[in-house]
Amino acid sequence: VTDEPPAPSAAERAIARARQVMRQSTLREILALAARPGVISFAVGLPATSLFPAEGLARAAAELLAIDRRALQYGIPYPPLKGQIVELMRLRGVTCRPEQVFLTTGSQQGMDLLVRLLLVPGGRVMLESTVYDGMPMAIKRLEPEILAVPTDLDHGIDVDAVERHLRAGPAPAFLYLITDGHNPLGVSLGEAQRRRLALLARQHRMPILEDDAYGFLYYGEPGESPAPPLRAHEDEWVYYLGSFSKILAPGLRTGWIVAPEALLPTLAALKHGADLDTPSFGQRMISSYLGTGELPGHLARLRAEYRERRDALLAALEGRLAGAVRWNRPLAGMFVWVELPERIDTAELVRTAIEDEKVAFSPGAAFAVQGSRHADHCLRLAFAHLTPAEIAEGVERLARVIERALG
Ligand SMILES: Cc1ncc(COP(=O)(O)O)c(C=O)c1O
Repeated sequence: VTDEPPAPSAAERAIARARQVMRQSTLREILALAARPGVISFAVGLPATSLFPAEGLARAAAELLAIDRRALQYGIPYPPLKGQIVELMRLRGVTCRPEQVFLTTGSQQGMDLLVRLLLVPGGRVMLESTVYDGMPMAIKRLEPEILAVPTDLDHGIDVDAVERHLRAGPAPAFLYLITDGHNPLGVSLGEAQRRRLALLARQHRMPILEDDAYGFLYYGEPGESPAPPLRAHEDEWVYYLGSFSKILAPGLRTGWIVAPEALLPTLAALKHGADLDTPSFGQRMISSYLGTGELPGHLARLRAEYRERRDALLAALEGRLAGAVRWNRPLAGMFVWVELPERIDTAELVRTAIEDEKVAFSPGAAFAVQGSRHADHCLRLAFAHLTPAEIAEGVERLARVIERALG
């Protein structure tokens, strides 16, 4: 009899590997502190709870439960909702057919399924160097090689760099990007960038996963309309990711992919293994709500309210921090990106901010691809869930923290 521990089992080895590969950054722990009472938190990109169309959804839910119990049953993707999504896409300037619409449990699942479809273990993907962290989380377990392309708060993704990568070697499995109201940079791409990217996707037969989570939250002047997404320029190599999370409510967990029809059976098989169905209740509730014709009015209200909040944030930054830091003016979405002098480490700063001034933000490092240090001096402010008064007070607190850090 020996005291030697037994060799690790297959499960133990797998768990150890997953722990190592899927490790979340310590920033997550910091952000948990942001939820403390009394903290004004710009840290998490939440839609405003007070603006959820709760009454309309409650009516839809009550009606559904009273007249159609199929809302509680397993169910195939609800065909009327696909037709309504085709109409929504038309509002975004995109022409598509119901046969190209694939319903998902939030657009995050859309990303996960497309990753399963397109990326093999150890494959290559192209990402912006500053990226929504949901994509790195979706690809991590496959340990891909990442081609990082520069991006910034003024212009967004550097299309020349994308082109150079594509000229230099075989195309990666995909390029993921956010065309409008970028998370975290706030930037929206120009028309010429959109056209060039769509063309590159076609020329190199490389799918672009276009995440349009924020495209409907557009703050242009009255009469101006937003530039259409890449999918309007390219219907074969751009796979569009849509979501009801930011325009209705994230708790409904419903999103969609617009992709070539030929891919849908395989996506359906992949989804079967993940979660069988997108919840029938959410799909039917959304469909019923859309059927009342209330969405355009709701969207107009969201745009007006969020625009006011964005403007409150920009005015407060201008009033308190002009000259000390740099930020942009987002035309869409929920985020303002702020660049501090390079000597400031915002992952350190956020601890002090929470402790000393009860204000929180997301440090830039949370969005830097592959642990790069290029965004260590940056931070993201999410404004949609805060009232203008909270925003003003939050920036006041933030300014005190930054002024102290700058000495
Ligand atoms: C850019 C981006 N894409 C996707 C998602 C996930 O959205 P959903 O709730 O549709 O899964 C988010 C959530 O914040 C996001 O910011």
